[in-house]
Amino acid sequence: MPEGYKGRAKNYPVSIAPMMDWTDRHYRYMMRLITKKTLLYTEMIAAEAIIRGDKQMLLDFQPIEHPIAVQLGGSDPDVLAKAAVICEDWGYDEIDLNVGCPSSRVQEGRFGACLMAQPDLVAECVEAMRSRVKIPVTVKHRIGIDSLDKYEDLLNFVERVAPTECDRFTVHARIAILGGLNPKQNRTIPPLRYEDVYALKEQFPELCIEINGGIKTYDQMQGHLDRVDAVMLGRAAYEDPFMFAKVDELFFGEGENKVTRRDVVEAMVPYIERDNADKQLPIIRITRHMLGLFRGQRGARYWRRSLSEKAKQQSRDPKLMLDVLDEMGF
Ligand SMILES: Cc1cc2nc3c(=O)[nH]c(=O)nc-3n(C[C@H](O)[C@H](O)[C@H](O)COP(=O)(O)O)c2cc1C
Repeated sequence: MPEGYKGRAKNYPVSIAPMMDWTDRHYRYMMRLITKKTLLYTEMIAAEAIIRGDKQMLLDFQPIEHPIAVQLGGSDPDVLAKAAVICEDWGYDEIDLNVGCPSSRVQEGRFGACLMAQPDLVAECVEAMRSRVKIPVTVKHRIGIDSLDKYEDLLNFVERVAPTECDRFTVHARIAILGGLNPKQNRTIPPLRYEDVYALKEQFPELCIEINGGIKTYDQMQGHLDRVDAVMLGRAAYEDPFMFAKVDELFFGEGENKVTRRDVVEAMVPYIERDNADKQLPIIRITRHMLGLFRGQRGARYWRRSLSEKAKQQSRDPKLMLDVLDEMGF
């Protein structure tokens, strides 16, 4: 944690990014079999939905998932504050505000990345939430949007939000182009500008600054950690989940983690059986998160193909994963 930092956030040097459709409770359960320490995030949840919708469906998680942050979408301070209170009561460890999503649906709701142009409103939102909950309140944002694409614009944003004592700034180190690019393009086309995030940390050493975007290897993670307080991984954590088996040891000072890929699959079988007990749904809704588990290993393609084929057959029995492992000789 930065020297002089007086906020509420604990120091999590590594986190896994909020990702719609990907970081659901099943994925998070699997990741907890691999890393105990990494901070996990939910998918973005609209604050309005939390207040009016099916809270159980939207918010439920299992104790094993701690530490876990809920990411909120919204731009009305009062609505966000109400949703934050509900999330705190539900047991979440942190609340994060989404100021990075460029989708047109989110723009219509006037939240997400377009809030980069309204730092005063973001400050109001953070203040409203922070005054109502005791847990940390953080912001995940971009380095800029559209023509607000200079370092000075990023500086202006952080300078205006910092006095709220926002507990962490997680910076996706590329701008978002709201008019011309779709969300996927907005994660690849604008170039990464890590230097801007480092400069921010140098300028505000007392703030907790986390860097995000394009980070894939332990060396890259360590390189960033030499310059900022934390690193957040998104796609790499989904495409190669088992890379997190070394994270607790390398970045949280824990002992060696002896978990194997087979252990993860074996633990997911009863998990899926429990989850499916009264529903008997196709297991693909959970096993889809496991496709990358053998990435880089002999048999990885066979694993993916077998799981995908079973999915097409609408399989309901998770034990078939053990048969695939046997066939692979794992
Ligand atoms: C499928 C997908 C869904 C995403 N959904 C969200 C989201 O709900 N909230 C958010 O702040 N960012 C979201 N993102 C962006 C990621 O959190 C992250 O900022 C981005 O992928 C860059 O990090 P990476 O290069 O490590 O993947 C999403 C990314 C992906 C790939």
